[in-house]
Amino acid sequence: MKIAVVGTGYVGLVTGVSLSEIGHNVTCIDIDLAKVNKMKKGVSPIYEPGLSELMLSNIEQKRLFFTTDHKEAFKDTEVIYIAVGTPENANGSANLKYVEQVAIDIASNVYRDTVVVTKSTVPVGTNHNIQRIIEKNLINKVKVDVISNPEFLKEGSAIYDSFNGDRIVIGSENDEAADKLEEINKPFGVPVYRTDIKSAEMIKYASNAFLATKISFINEISNICELLGANVEEVAIGMGLDQRIGNQFLKAGIGYGGSCFPKDTKALIQIAGNVDYDFQLLKGVVNVNRKQQKILLNKLEERIPSLKGKKIAILGLAFKPNTDDMREAASIVISKELIKSGARVIAYDPISMENAKSILDEKVEYASSIEDAIAESDATLILTEWDEIKHIDLDLFKSMEYPLIIDGRNCFDINKMKNSGIEYHSVGRPSVVSTNEKAYV
Ligand code: UDX
Repeated sequence: MKIAVVGTGYVGLVTGVSLSEIGHNVTCIDIDLAKVNKMKKGVSPIYEPGLSELMLSNIEQKRLFFTTDHKEAFKDTEVIYIAVGTPENANGSANLKYVEQVAIDIASNVYRDTVVVTKSTVPVGTNHNIQRIIEKNLINKVKVDVISNPEFLKEGSAIYDSFNGDRIVIGSENDEAADKLEEINKPFGVPVYRTDIKSAEMIKYASNAFLATKISFINEISNICELLGANVEEVAIGMGLDQRIGNQFLKAGIGYGGSCFPKDTKALIQIAGNVDYDFQLLKGVVNVNRKQQKILLNKLEERIPSLKGKKIAILGLAFKPNTDDMREAASIVISKELIKSGARVIAYDPISMENAKSILDEKVEYASSIEDAIAESDATLILTEWDEIKHIDLDLFKSMEYPLIIDGRNCFDINKMKNSGIEYHSVGRPSVVSTNEKAYV
């Protein structure tokens, strides 16, 4: 099948590459010429395990193409995917200007009956609006059917998720168009759930909001565990054994970040507000997340009340491991607050330091290894649970006058820490307090 994908962000690029991998002829379109030229050579603009390899092999097999010229790409294509961004407006609602522009571009450049598939996360009702915009602006007498096909991939495992997803949701008002999309996706071997367009649009927001709720819920439980001396990890295991609850997304930490949960939770509050519905529960989820991001700072300030001139190491900057994505990463808020308090911040991340440099405060310094970052530090904060950080040699801390780790991702076993000589505070678990007489305060 000849397919065009508009937008080469995470969703668009992974979709395009995965569709080419299962045998379709795919052209990915982006307005950024420099990015397109790189992608033509198989260079991925994002760090995503397995993506570059698949890009290269499908480019070589002449199934995957990149262009800035949507006119050319749309001309004789049967299916066009919309995968452009829907960034957050100042009031939390989704900005649809890019999606609407693609709808106009499609209307002005299709010469045959076409199925338009919306992958971008769009508020309920948007696909009907896209259909109207296209029909209003069509320059040729062709039939265009718009389908909602929300994306559920996770960064860091996006390629794996494409081939091992739990479901593909197809929201359509036209059976023939839905059949076509189901046929396209057949080789993925992922179960398909067909529904109407509005329900499909809502499935995406409701799923993300529910997962975010799980995270804020376990984070609140973790804070109570700390006060009562319980261990949130044990609690999460015990809860997760109940199949109605499930064991996923119950990892307490410093809150959710990334390109989806923060944006989509706020957008759903807006969507509900637009029909005069006050989504109180979700507002709570968002507030809890905001609070949770700062929880490590409170713990640090309890131990070192004046941070002025102190050297604080940050291990992990990306919003989660296996990605270089810094969007809504807790490291942004935390490093800013540390600098504001007069601390010297030395950061290390295996992959995202280049991205971080343009996002974090210019006073943040970067180390080329964990060892360099923590050397002579007054405290180490762990913000991302990269494997490299989880497997850190704890003996590295031994040379310090007073080793102190505040771990926002529960990277280490509490019992192991008890014999390490390191003062260790994590999330929702009892602290390991050192008997070292050089302790602060
Ligand atoms: C998410 C959804 O999982 C995916 O289905 C959707 O398409 C896009 O948004 P992503 O943002 O890539 O994916 O990452 P995810 O693994 O869901 O993690 C999101 C954030 O939640 C991260 O900051 C992560 O650290 C945090 N998280 C996740 C927790 O704090 N605890 C958990 O148990 C799980």
